[in-house]
Amino acid sequence: LNVVVLMGGWSSEREVSLMSGRGVAGALRTRGWSNVTEVDMDRNVAQVLAGLRPDIVFNALHGHPGEDGTVQGMLDLMQIPYTHSGLSTSAIAIDKELTKLLLVPAGVRMPKGTMIASERLFEGDPIPRPYVLKPVNEGSSVGVAIVTDESNYGNPIGRDTVGPWNDFDELLAEPFIAGHELTVAVLGDEALCVTELKPKQGFYDFDSKYTDGMTEHVCPAQVPEPIAQAMLDMALLAHRALGCKGASRSDFRWDDTQGEAGLYLLEVNTQPGMTPLSLVPEQARQRGISYGELVERIIAEALG
Ligand code: DAL
Ligand code: MG
Repeated sequence: LNVVVLMGGWSSEREVSLMSGRGVAGALRTRGWSNVTEVDMDRNVAQVLAGLRPDIVFNALHGHPGEDGTVQGMLDLMQIPYTHSGLSTSAIAIDKELTKLLLVPAGVRMPKGTMIASERLFEGDPIPRPYVLKPVNEGSSVGVAIVTDESNYGNPIGRDTVGPWNDFDELLAEPFIAGHELTVAVLGDEALCVTELKPKQGFYDFDSKYTDGMTEHVCPAQVPEPIAQAMLDMALLAHRALGCKGASRSDFRWDDTQGEAGLYLLEVNTQPGMTPLSLVPEQARQRGISYGELVERIIAEALG
C-alpha cells in the first residue's frame, strides 16, 4: 500500500503536526510498511499528490487547512481515501461555536459562548469574570487567555497586554469553569479512557501541552465513576453526532463542587495530536493498543 503521511503546512500548529506526522510515518516503517512518504504540505499539495498517487493519505495535519474541511474536500475531489473525519464534520468541529449548535440540542452540556470583536474588549469585559477568551477555530490552546479578577485588575484588558486580542479580529468568550481539565479519546466506535491533565503551573496551554514534564497526565483519571462514565458517554455521543471518523478527542472541564452538572464539554478535536506527549496514543496504550496498532486501526477504518 502506498501511504502518504500529510503533515506540516502553514497553520499555527505546524510544528505539532510535523511531530505527529513523523511519529506516524516512523511507526508504519517500524511495522514493515515499505511505501511510506512524508509530505510537508505546501500550496502545491494537489500536484504533489497527483504525482505520488497514494492509496491512502494519513492526515496528520492540525489547524487550517488540514482540520477544517479544506484538505478533505481536495482529497474527495481527487478520490484519494484519507484518515479521520470528512469535509462537513471537519468544517463544523473546527468551529467551537458551530459545534455547540449540533451538540447542545443532542444533550451535551457545553459552556455558553459569546462572540466578540477584539476591538470591543477594550471597552470592558464581554461577560463576567472569570472567563476564557479564545479564537473560535484554533487548536493547541493557541491564542487562549484566561481573564480572572486578578488579571489587569481594575482595568479592561489593556491594549499593550499580550493576548489573543492582538492576533484575532473576533474572539469567543466563555465562562471559566473552575476545577479539572479532562479528555476522552474515541477510536472507531469506542471511548477509550478519561485522562486528567494537571499542569504544574498555570493552565494546560501550548507549553504545558508539548514540554515533557510540564503536565502530569493521570490516566485513568481519579474522578468518581459516574463522572467518568458521563464523560465517556458524552465523548462517544459527540463523535457520533458530528460523524467523526478514525479518532477524535473530546476535551472537558469539570467543576467538582457541582457534581455531574459541573461537567462541560469544551470541544471535539477531529485531528487529535499524535506526538509523543499526545493523549490519544496515551489512552490507546492504556487500553493495550500500541502506537503502531493505533495508526493501523485509523488507516483500516479509512480504507474500510
Ligand atoms: N490540536 C491538537 C493537535 C490536539 O487536539 O491534539
Ligand atoms: Mg482543540
